[in-house]
Amino acid sequence: MAIEASAPGKAILFGEHSVVYRGPAVVLAIDKRARVVAQKRNDDRVFLDALDLGFAGYFEGEEYHAVVGERKRGRSLAAFNTAAVKTMEHLGVEAGVSLSIRSEIPIAAGLGSSAAVSVATVAAIGALLGGALTKDEVCSLAYEGEKVVHGTPSGVDNNISTYGGILKFERDVGFEKNTLDHSPVFIIGNTRRKRSTRRMVEKVRLLRNRNEQIVDNIIDAIGKIAVEGLTALHRADLETVGDLMDINHGLLASLGVSSPDLELMVHASRRSGALGSKLTGAGGGGCMIALTEDASIQRIQRAIRRRGGESIIVNISQEGVTTREIG
Ligand code: PMV
Repeated sequence: MAIEASAPGKAILFGEHSVVYRGPAVVLAIDKRARVVAQKRNDDRVFLDALDLGFAGYFEGEEYHAVVGERKRGRSLAAFNTAAVKTMEHLGVEAGVSLSIRSEIPIAAGLGSSAAVSVATVAAIGALLGGALTKDEVCSLAYEGEKVVHGTPSGVDNNISTYGGILKFERDVGFEKNTLDHSPVFIIGNTRRKRSTRRMVEKVRLLRNRNEQIVDNIIDAIGKIAVEGLTALHRADLETVGDLMDINHGLLASLGVSSPDLELMVHASRRSGALGSKLTGAGGGGCMIALTEDASIQRIQRAIRRRGGESIIVNISQEGVTTREIG
């Protein structure tokens, strides 16, 4: 028997960086998914393959053994090994499993690819070994994998990947799932420049240390944008959502987390008909997101590509993690 689980990536629509301090962020599950196929093995290994990226191997404790590709590539599999091991511990089973990982979500771009793979890994193993895990269990076991990659992440990525839809997330308050009765279309532009979330968060912290009151006003303004942006999204007022995305981008740039590539793509998208556009995620590289009507999709995509970016059309995915038997 083999089980395939799939889980969506994410994009932050409003509130990145400010959410580290206070106020909400609004996060979308996107219709780009990671897929994990789990099968039982005759030995007791957790064998992981990411063969479309050119590597595969297994862990003995913390130690990675490369079977295909370089040994150092195994570091990126450690999170999924942890998610798998914790899931089997939770189920109280000892078994060997093979996990084939395939993903449409760009890596290290702020689109939640590692969380989507962790969530799909947990769900696939749960279904394979008869655990029938609840979504809450899948989400918290996947968080164990996320901690291996990100230290103590906020939990946004594993939550959005598990539940899908739109999440309003606020520190010390938690998550609220939202659903829309319309389907806005977004275009993501990936600068292909990798960046470290930790470094960008630190950059904002240092700026705030030097200019506390001014930065706090910006943080509060972004929080208000997130609240109003979500309300506008619910009433399908895309013009206001677009305005608020533009303003949010300006405030993020003022915090020092934009980059020349992001600026080029954000402004080119607006000139090509986007209703609004902003960087998404930690900034300094990674991705931007534009809200568009159908008529402008191709122009915006061309504008992003002409500036060296990869362009992806995304819709909000209402569907979080799913599993199915594939034979
Ligand atoms: O890691 P990313 O690109 O998905 O974005 C992180 C969002 C921040 O607000 C910058 C950091 C955080 O922990 O919320």
